[in-house]
Amino acid sequence: MSNRWRSSISRDREPKPIEAEVLAWGDHGDGELHVGSKRLFVAGAIPDELVSVLASKPPKLIKVLTPSDDRRKSPCRYASECGGCQLQHVTPRGQLNFKADRLTRFLHGLALDNLPEVELLSAEDRGYRRRARLSVSYRGGKLRMGFRQAKSNRIVDIDSCYNLTDPLNQVIKALKPLLAQQRAVSHIDLLQLDHAVGLHLRLTEPLQEQQLDAFQSLPGVALKVSRDEAWLVDTPWLVSNNGSSVAYQPGDFLQANTKINALMVERVLEWMAVDEGDSVADFFSGLGNFSVPMAVKGAAVVGFEGSDAMVKRASEAAERSTASRIVYRSVDLFGTQLVLENYNKVLLDPPRAGAQSLCEQLSKAAKVERVVYVSCDTNSLARDLKILVAGGFNIEGLALADMFPNTIHSETIVLLTRV
Ligand SMILES: C[S@@+](CC[C@H](N)C(=O)[O-])C[C@H]1O[C@@H](n2cnc3c(N)ncnc32)[C@H](O)[C@@H]1O
Repeated sequence: MSNRWRSSISRDREPKPIEAEVLAWGDHGDGELHVGSKRLFVAGAIPDELVSVLASKPPKLIKVLTPSDDRRKSPCRYASECGGCQLQHVTPRGQLNFKADRLTRFLHGLALDNLPEVELLSAEDRGYRRRARLSVSYRGGKLRMGFRQAKSNRIVDIDSCYNLTDPLNQVIKALKPLLAQQRAVSHIDLLQLDHAVGLHLRLTEPLQEQQLDAFQSLPGVALKVSRDEAWLVDTPWLVSNNGSSVAYQPGDFLQANTKINALMVERVLEWMAVDEGDSVADFFSGLGNFSVPMAVKGAAVVGFEGSDAMVKRASEAAERSTASRIVYRSVDLFGTQLVLENYNKVLLDPPRAGAQSLCEQLSKAAKVERVVYVSCDTNSLARDLKILVAGGFNIEGLALADMFPNTIHSETIVLLTRV
């Protein structure tokens, strides 16, 4: 068979672009449109747009024929390749519309009456991220440093990131010429400290002394270097976190967006309404992000956290703060039966898996009159809210915190009180 004949057959079989109107947001920041009886979810399409798409698997946006007012030219030059963001093509207002719309659909799915309005907590979409982990490779003799491409292991090489704070971007710029001179670094952690940038180099092989000196001489950098879980250089990192100064080691949890975190803590404090008479359990307390501010308000707080090392660092930070009535316990909260009678208020801020076992226990804890639930995953939140509502709690407050602008991720805060 000649090549010309083969290519004309394959051309005939290729799906042709179809024009359609985008009807709604999909859950992943894509646009939903209908082609015949098929529902397609197309990455890059925005509701109300007329678009030309290929109904392939996955469907592909070919052209935007009538753009939405919520479309913008991506301010990040890596957006078409880098998997770090999904919504760079959407204005900040459009991004909030999408996140609010998704949360409203989720709440509707709970089939509960009289839900309160969702309050939106948002700030700038640029330069908000105070911590990042970047991958490094030297494949084919070429240095690549950055985040991975969506659904791929390929590292997209960047010189700066739109989401990171300016000091983090300055360190990335200064770092690249040094990385190009060696092959030992596989990952980099960056964290904005109060008066420096924390830089952690994870090594796969030894680093020559001269190269280590060069990294150590980077201006404004507090260096950590590790290999096979052992610290070779371990400059202390201290970071201010809502009223306490906390020691941080790579791998610890820390809220990524300082401004949104401050708004979130403010909202939690208001909804917890704590005073000297309260006995509070802060479940999944991390480094004390919420427990210190609640204890500063006068409440007696017990923070429960699974990581022994974080419990130690949170306890030391609490001692340095003005809070007096605060202790931390190291507990695996996914399987432990707890004594909850001592608490009248509870804060939950679990990882994506949620807090099923705790919510089952809280449903039976008659003395707990108020629960504030901070969630990063609506699936586990839905399951846990159903348990709490069936156990006698009412949803009294709802907020969406836009912790990660330009991405599809956000936090949900829920206030529940006992009926
Ligand atoms: C979303 S973070 C919240 C931390 C803290 N509330 C904050 O705002 O920084 C979840 C925390 O749960 C902890 N964690 C994860 N699995 C756990 C478990 N099985 N038991 C207890 N804590 C756990 C993590 O170490 C992390 O600190």
